[in-house]
Amino acid sequence: MKVDGRHYRSLWWDNDTGALRIIDQRWLPHDFRIAELRTMDECAVAIRDMWVRGAPLIGATAAYAVAIRMAADPSDEALSAAWRVLHATRPTAINLRWALDRCRDTLRPLPAGARAEAALELAHEIADEDVEINRRIGEHGLALIRELAPHKRADEPVRLLTHCNAGWLATVDWGTATSPMFQAHDAGVPLHVWVDETRPRNQGALTAWELRSHGIAHSYIVDNAGGHLMQHGLVDMVIVGTDRTTRRGDVCNKIGTYLKALAARDNAVPFYVALPSPTIDWAVEDGLAEIPIEERAPRETTHVLGRTRGGGIEHVQVAPEGTEGGNPAFDVTPNHLVTGLITDRGVCDASAEGLAALFPERASHAGSTP
Ligand code: MRU
Repeated sequence: MKVDGRHYRSLWWDNDTGALRIIDQRWLPHDFRIAELRTMDECAVAIRDMWVRGAPLIGATAAYAVAIRMAADPSDEALSAAWRVLHATRPTAINLRWALDRCRDTLRPLPAGARAEAALELAHEIADEDVEINRRIGEHGLALIRELAPHKRADEPVRLLTHCNAGWLATVDWGTATSPMFQAHDAGVPLHVWVDETRPRNQGALTAWELRSHGIAHSYIVDNAGGHLMQHGLVDMVIVGTDRTTRRGDVCNKIGTYLKALAARDNAVPFYVALPSPTIDWAVEDGLAEIPIEERAPRETTHVLGRTRGGGIEHVQVAPEGTEGGNPAFDVTPNHLVTGLITDRGVCDASAEGLAALFPERASHAGSTP
């Protein structure tokens, strides 16, 4: 998508330097900075410390990290170690494991001398596929948004609510939950998006930044406002992203998603999840019991990052000195609270049958260890 009129992906390969370039999300929305990652270890830090974030982008970054490592050392040992080091960076988003497995399974049978080039080609392929997957999610989501438009008064926009940042910054391009928004706006459907701030890290500010750059009307709201807005008929549809969705359609996403789903159900507001196919974990059925939930540093809850009056970007402490923070980063929304899954192959019920109908080739092997 565009930043100041120039098209960017959230990461790209620099042929001249043989390094990965990323938009360093730690500084957004206050400052737009690009960072260069030259080693696998730098990529691992960038994933762990959330310079890059969002399930699909983590996967793509890991694929480039493997390519960087293979260029330095294409041995079996280095390939296995790369898988381990990168896999350990963040536990919840399945795209990380999906990308690493794909790299390992593609590269392992090749002679060491062919691995560096093949790894880079594969990373490009994974990145390009992500763009196309999200573009398709946008088309299917646009159809759902169009269905809502005729029920609105002429002067009323379709009002969407989203949580966290499942935007283009969280993917290679388009975003998942935001792709239908971008496409609806471009198709002339009037929209207004309620953007949850998404404490503790305020990824909603990234979504607001993206929507603003694209000219989409939106309001940045505190996480607790969603239920109230739904009770007053001010939300037509919720669209969120996901870090891992099980084969029966349980949805793991940023902490607080579950509460939005509960409020949506109580108020008969459709609750949709934008789901790229690499985010489906076919090995897992029960999201609550089986998905590891990342516990992040308590400091993320006791401190917030913002721009100071003097223009600096600083953390300030919001909790009393000595107070301990608790920071589970994701939660699981059970499938019965999800109206539908907007996948790259179309929209389906959040159920084993719904997903199997769209992905028959995967569902037939579901549950078996990859
Ligand atoms: O901790 P984050 O910022 O990586 O979490 C991101 C989310 O929860 C997104 O909603 C999810 O990854 C989907 S991104 C298309």
